Amino acid sequence: MDTSIPLRMESAPTLDRRARALSGLRISVIDRCNFRCPYCMPEDDYPRDHQFLSKSGRLRFEEIERLARIFAGLGVRKLRLTGGEPLLRRELPELVRQLAAIEGIDDIAMTTNGSLLPKSAQALREAGLQRITLSVDTLDAEAYRKLSGGRGEVAELLAAIEVATACGFSSLKLNSVVMRGINDAHVFDMIEHFRGSGHILRFIEYMDVGTCNAWREDLVVASAELRARIAARWPLRALPARYGGEVAQRWEFIDGGGEIGFISSVSEPFCGDCTRARLSADGRLYTCLFATSGHDLLGPLRAGASDAELAALISAVWSARDDRYSEIRGLAKASAREHVEMYAIGG
Ligand code: GTP
Ligand code: 5AD
Ligand code: SF4
Ligand code: SF4
Repeated sequence: MDTSIPLRMESAPTLDRRARALSGLRISVIDRCNFRCPYCMPEDDYPRDHQFLSKSGRLRFEEIERLARIFAGLGVRKLRLTGGEPLLRRELPELVRQLAAIEGIDDIAMTTNGSLLPKSAQALREAGLQRITLSVDTLDAEAYRKLSGGRGEVAELLAAIEVATACGFSSLKLNSVVMRGINDAHVFDMIEHFRGSGHILRFIEYMDVGTCNAWREDLVVASAELRARIAARWPLRALPARYGGEVAQRWEFIDGGGEIGFISSVSEPFCGDCTRARLSADGRLYTCLFATSGHDLLGPLRAGASDAELAALISAVWSARDDRYSEIRGLAKASAREHVEMYAIGG
């Protein structure tokens, strides 16, 4: 029996308890990664034999597509594929093709470490992927090896950027998690390299996500400090946000060198505009990057729930949402709780 219902696209937005609409969905397609970045999946905690989700424990493509369609009916317009490393999920272009066909979805992006991108960039583009964000924490070969847990090479990353550009992903976003004393001194080299390329470097304040990244506040370089250092060499001016609730603050070099961004979740929390839901590879819905637990959608989905029932469940979870972790980080009870791992919900 077909239990699907026509979903109304013009329905009222789904609002949470702080009047934030549900408008974006980050979909983690796999919890595995071929890197071991010390700030996300440190090697010692995730050795090669670590038990990740089994195939049957992961949402299948048709299940992801169905959930995404239901989210679209509730107001979601933007999708972002994440992991772990999303390109470890086989046949990913096929999923993109299915998601691109959903009515109401007008933006599909992916966040990747880039190592597997050359093989699939063209197929992803043809399937309808619109944007790619790559992690670029440093361009120093030795530091890059270290920051990828001994798994990545800068030369491969640069090759991935070239291939992606050649396939039509013209303006890549390049994410750099900045940590004091670890890679903050590499920021100038990265800017030198990418200025004028059309790609957008974005500096992210190191966050206390997950449970195993040994985060310390003194490792965070506040965006205001970093921006001042950069502006002393290349004067900058602020740009307006491209869309409401944009995570990065946009700046441009006044000499025409292009755009850079700052993501300041620690020093300038943006919870007030946070309209993103997160779906883990095992079908749990998380309403915050720092949530302790998610709401199971896979169980009801496999037990035969109709689209209307799943929509009601998602809507109820979102309506009850009160998260604003980054705004209350300083409170002891907030920072003491166990957060979901970054690789499980893809940042
Ligand atoms: P676009 O603006 O659509 O290009 O995407 P984005 O910047 O939201 O996505 P991306 O995956 O590049 O996120 C950049 C960084 O911001 C990642 O490190 C995320 O973990 C972080 N980030 C994204 N959304 C949130 C959020 O809601 N809260 C917090 N604290 N960090 C976030
Ligand atoms: N703090 C800030 N950003 C992080 N990322 C992973 N872990 C952290 C952290 N602790 C970033 C990755 C990638 C995105 C998905 O999240 O570098 O760009
Ligand atoms: Fe993998 Fe990304 Fe986590 Fe690094 S930050 S270990 S690339 S999921
Ligand atoms: Fe949204 Fe949670 Fe990030 Fe705040 S901390 S912006 S509520 S995901």
